[in-house]
This record gives sequence, structure tokens and C-alpha cells, in this order.
Amino acid sequence: MPNVYVTRVIPQPGIDRLRARGYQVDVNESDTPLTQEQLREKAATYDALVTLLTDHIDRQVLDAGKGKLQIVANVAVGYDNIDAPAATEDGIIVTNTPGVLTETTADFAWTLLMAVGRRVVEGDQFFRGGRYKGWGILMLLGEDVYAKTLGIVGFGRIGQAVAQRATGFSMDILYYDPVIQAEDAARRVGARRVELDTLLRESDYVTVHTPLVPETRHLIGMPELQKMKSTAYLINTSRGPVVDEGALVDALRQNLIRGAALDVYENEPAPHPGLTELENTVLTPHIASASRETREKMATMAADNVIAVFEGQAPPTAVNPEVLKK
Ligand code: GLV
Repeated sequence: MPNVYVTRVIPQPGIDRLRARGYQVDVNESDTPLTQEQLREKAATYDALVTLLTDHIDRQVLDAGKGKLQIVANVAVGYDNIDAPAATEDGIIVTNTPGVLTETTADFAWTLLMAVGRRVVEGDQFFRGGRYKGWGILMLLGEDVYAKTLGIVGFGRIGQAVAQRATGFSMDILYYDPVIQAEDAARRVGARRVELDTLLRESDYVTVHTPLVPETRHLIGMPELQKMKSTAYLINTSRGPVVDEGALVDALRQNLIRGAALDVYENEPAPHPGLTELENTVLTPHIASASRETREKMATMAADNVIAVFEGQAPPTAVNPEVLKK
């Protein structure tokens, strides 16, 4: 029987599904990320690794698994933590979990957008801190969301789901995506495709939904932040390095933009120095897809990918399906 190593605790239905097939499933119950050496050792001894975004599945790990390891099933839609080209060279399938987290993540991008625009977290801290001494007409003024301009950077599944929600707020919707055309989706929500410069200059809320690839690293840096309106907000639920976090801290300090709401960071779990001291930010710990239902679906989807590979079938969501043709 093939064996599976799960690098950290995941929702139980994913494990149950694998065990129901009779596979040997071992789990790192400590729930702390394995070292690179431990990952190499697991890659060499197991037929499948079920990984999380905190695992760095680099060439050395994959090479250690070459000949034994058949699949790395990442429990995340993003797979920038895995050297997919190296996996392809080694004949190892890589899978991710697209689709199941789209709506949950879009909900959360909106949660952040509204929280930062309407100063929800500041208001909560103000109240808890005993500073609410009586109502005031100028107290904690934020910016409207209704009928404002939303700029969506990256118009894939999640970007489109964010756009769909914006129609309920009668927003003007702009999007920038150099790869995806998505004309039909854009037409359905009345979104306009523009260059990044136009999006930055015209939007009141800029929300980022690109994968992390070399072309998107620091896509939003100081030059881009300088183009934004001084009343605009930046929201990032994609991957931290898409935004130059140091530049963002500087831009917020200099009031180049009004605020930012981040769920992802350049060097997780550490924030860039100064970030947590800024009041005009909402900072959450990478939880955009963290609903009970969605995390369970992600875990079972990863399990289904492993099962398919073990049963000689095409895994539902391979990122390097070319391996199967080899
Ligand atoms: C979470 O960040 C994911 O990529 O699924």
C-alpha cells in the first residue's frame, strides 16, 4: 500500500478520506513546519506529500524524492512554495486547490476593504481602549464604499468574485490582468479592462489577486503607490511579496495613500518594521480562506488528488499535468 506524509495538521476529513483507502497516512501532529532536512527525508520515504504553504518544497526536497515520491498535493491554491519546474523534471506531480476557496477569499477581501475604509478595527480599539467618551460628528470618519471605484489587480477566479460583489455596491470596476482576458466575466459585472497605471490613478480601493510569480514580485512598489490617490486604500489577500512591504510602510507614513489592509506579508509571520505601529492599517494573519467549510474542502481536494495519482488517474487539479504524459 502506498504511504502519505501530511506535513502539518490539516482538517480531519482530508486524512479520513486517505485512510479510508487503506493508505498508511502519517501526520506531523506537532503542527510546526518541518525543517528542509526533515522534508527531504519525508520526500525520500513517502509516495505522496500533502503540504501547506509554510513548506518550502525546493529542488533539493524534490530531488530527494525522485523515483519514490509521486505527488506533492499542496493544500492551497497558491503554489509559489513549490518549485514546480523542478518537480516536472523529476516526474513528480504537483497539485493545488483552486475553486473551492474562491468565494471565501473574495468575501474576506471585501471584509478587509470595508474594515479599512470604515475604520472598523480602529473603532473597536477606540471603544475597548475606553476612549469613547460620547458621540462626535467628526469621530472616526472613513471613506464611502458605495459608488466608488474599485481596481482589481489580477482578474482570475478570485478577482472576478470580488468584482461580482462590487456590483451590489454600485461601484465602477476596473481591472488589470496582462494574462487573463475574461471578457465575458468583465461584461457580466460591467468591469473595464485598463492598464495598471490607469487603475492605480483612478481607483479608490485597489485590491490585489495575482499569483506570486517572478513577474508579480513587487508589482506594487513605491512608484505604483505614488500613482494612487491620497484617499485610496490598498488591500492584499494574494501573496505578500506582490507588494513591496517596506515601500508600503513608507507610503502610509507619508500619507501617500489613506490606508491598507493586508492578509499576507513578505516574510510571514514577521511584519515589516513599523507596519504594526500604523493606525491606518488592518492586519490579519493570512486567513482569507479560513472558513471551516472551505478549509475542509481544501483538505479533501488535496486527498482526492493523491488518490487519483495512486489509482493511476489524472489528478483533478494538477499544476504540471505534463508529467502524466512522460
Ligand atoms: C492561501 O493562501 C492559498 O493559496 O490557498
